[in-house]
Amino acid sequence: MKTLLLFCLLLITSNGYADPFQKADALAGKALVDKNCISCHAESFGGDGSAIYTREYRKVKTSKGLVAQIRNCNTMIGLKWFEDEELNVASYLNKTYYKLTE
Ligand code: HEC
Repeated sequence: MKTLLLFCLLLITSNGYADPFQKADALAGKALVDKNCISCHAESFGGDGSAIYTREYRKVKTSKGLVAQIRNCNTMIGLKWFEDEELNVASYLNKTYYKLTE
């Protein structure tokens, strides 16, 4: 029991925060974002567009909100991603920018 507890603690602290998208594939998510999402954000926010995720008044505050926003943008451009693709993208954006724990 103690070892199990320790193991969970290790999992949570190993990358500095609890990852709400642990099972998703962040690398696959990055490929999807690079291909489909950057140009438009870059147009309105400059650079590589990533400032949209780190701006002071960013919209996304929770992992649920992140998935919802990904779904919005994804629907807007008609990509019809599957849920696992949305979660892969959420995992990538969370690991790289948001670092949300819940
Ligand atoms: C046609 C333009 C366009 C494309 C393509 C686009 N987005 Fe967006 N995205 C926006 C705009 C505009 C906003 C800001 C919305 C706002 O501020 O209300 C936004 C906001 C976001 C945010 C929230 C940022 C914050 O404030 O925390 C996320 C996450 C996001 N987009 C993900 C994606 C993903 C993933 C894709 C690829 C499927 C994508 N977007 C493609 C226009 C786009």
